[in-house]
Amino acid sequence: MIVISYTIYDVAKKAGVSIATVSRVLNNGIHVSEKTKQKVKTAIEELNYTPNILASALTKKSTLTIGLLIPDISNPFFSELSRGVEDACNDFGFNTVICNTDYSLQKEAAYINLLRQKSVDGFVITTAHYNDKNVIQLIKDRIPMVLLDRNIERSDAYDIDLVLSDNIGGGYLATKHLIQLGHKNIACFLGPPEIEVNVEREKGYIKAMKEAKLTINPSLVAYGDFKLEFGYKKTIELLNRHIIPTAFFAANDLIAVGIIRALKSVGLSVPSDISVVGFDDTIFAEIIDPPLTSVNQPIREMGYHATKLLIKKLRGERSTSKKIIFDTELIIRESTSACDAKISYLR
Ligand code: RIB
Repeated sequence: MIVISYTIYDVAKKAGVSIATVSRVLNNGIHVSEKTKQKVKTAIEELNYTPNILASALTKKSTLTIGLLIPDISNPFFSELSRGVEDACNDFGFNTVICNTDYSLQKEAAYINLLRQKSVDGFVITTAHYNDKNVIQLIKDRIPMVLLDRNIERSDAYDIDLVLSDNIGGGYLATKHLIQLGHKNIACFLGPPEIEVNVEREKGYIKAMKEAKLTINPSLVAYGDFKLEFGYKKTIELLNRHIIPTAFFAANDLIAVGIIRALKSVGLSVPSDISVVGFDDTIFAEIIDPPLTSVNQPIREMGYHATKLLIKKLRGERSTSKKIIFDTELIIRESTSACDAKISYLR
């Protein structure tokens, strides 16, 4: 079978216009009359012409592609975040390449190299670490980028765009809600300490506990990872040691789901025996039984906004860097209720 591949010259010839005019139509059609645009579009359709992206990348020095680095798309937080990034790319004529780093700096470095070889125009990065050498290197190399949902150490010293949410405020809201329900013995399960959002969510927890003059039992505060298994195992470990809080604040919904599973596995009921609050307000919060009270981050909006900031910078439409912090909000569902004195036999 012979496949005929048409070029921009064939399109120009068929439409009866210059190559420059075809190029202008392909690049948003500025300074081209509607009639000429239509002629070019008809020729493109009839020849089934596809522009050669690599060739145009060479002339325009742009591949209209953005590299998105996230730790793990199987966490629904990152699925929704990616959706926001892709929606913005789509709205502004860009493509997205998504890479999962598995929270590994080595994997992150390898993907950054690969995407740089493929000449992506810029990066949206949810870094693996607060102290991330890969990100610092990109800054030094003046590669356009925006950090999404993650801050880095001394970020104020760099010219860098940041899109975050109010993690301290979120941790505070979650803990205050439990305190208002009469809970005093509140556990706090967090992801890795090298990711700043965890330290901030813990700060919010401490702030609410201190404000209510409650003592924090250090055995009830644990750093681990952002996975369901951590929530499950750590809860079983506490129960086995007969350390039983009346409520848990988990730094994300996956940890909270693990906690609920562990409590149910030993016959405890949520929320009548123990209350649980998550963070993120992902789809998991709605589908788990009982539906999970969780701190909402406007996830998709954050992804969209971060990408829009990057694209505007790439297009030269803005230059000064911005730090944007989205508000968090507590969504109360059925996994939290008033602290019940009758379960005191557990303690
Ligand atoms: O890395 C996972 C977590 O980071 C998410 O669940 C969300 O809370 C984000 O901040």
